[in-house]
Amino acid sequence: MIPVVAIDGPSGSGKGAVGFAVARRLGWHYLDSGAVYRALGFAALRAGVDLRAEPAVTALANSLNLQFVQDLSGEMRVLVNDEDCGLALRSEQVAAAASQVAAHPAARRALLERQRAARRPPGLIADGRDMGTVVFPDAVVKVYLTASAEVRAARRYHQLKETGFGGTLPQLLAEIQERDERDSRRAVAPLKAAGDAFVLDSSTLTLAEVIEQVLALVRSRVGAVPSV
Ligand code: DC
Repeated sequence: MIPVVAIDGPSGSGKGAVGFAVARRLGWHYLDSGAVYRALGFAALRAGVDLRAEPAVTALANSLNLQFVQDLSGEMRVLVNDEDCGLALRSEQVAAAASQVAAHPAARRALLERQRAARRPPGLIADGRDMGTVVFPDAVVKVYLTASAEVRAARRYHQLKETGFGGTLPQLLAEIQERDERDSRRAVAPLKAAGDAFVLDSSTLTLAEVIEQVLALVRSRVGAVPSV
């Protein structure tokens, strides 16, 4: 069985940076499942689909032409229906749309196989909200990475400043809390730690410390894995 490491947690907990770095170190594949939902949110906004309309959103999910392409600098580019989403995929507008489309059970089902198809040798690091609970329940390591809402909002603020997007700290905190609320309360695949997940609070840890802790967990479960 191809090993999967599931890293779930709320927005801004650092899952993306940790998942990507761990995948690099191990030479494994990496699935950013949030980008899949963001791509659907992006496509729905583009097509003017009502984000609350489950059948229309699901039809869009079924027909979504989604490609992850690594460019020469190693950056992952996301193409939705052949259009490069660029930085728009990381905007708060697309994040909010992603959270809304992700609340539809049928749309989630439509995206399930696409995510499972990312499981390829020698292994996969998958980050999201339901990697350990729904998509890869047999993951060898499940990490639930979290941090206080204030720390997550501050991280997001610095990240957005770097990419040139605006937003004030109180506004970002309110948006994060709203998204947490919606992602945790939805009926299907809500944001929650799997019963067998290792809960890691990154509020007072550096990125490097979190990466080392996750790598140590992987080694303890999978045995000696090459590290590059
Ligand atoms: O991790 P992210 O911020 O890129 O995710 C964007 C939205 O997608 C998030 O609000 C919830 C949704 N999502 C989900 O429902 N399930 C996942 N596995 C990943 C993301």
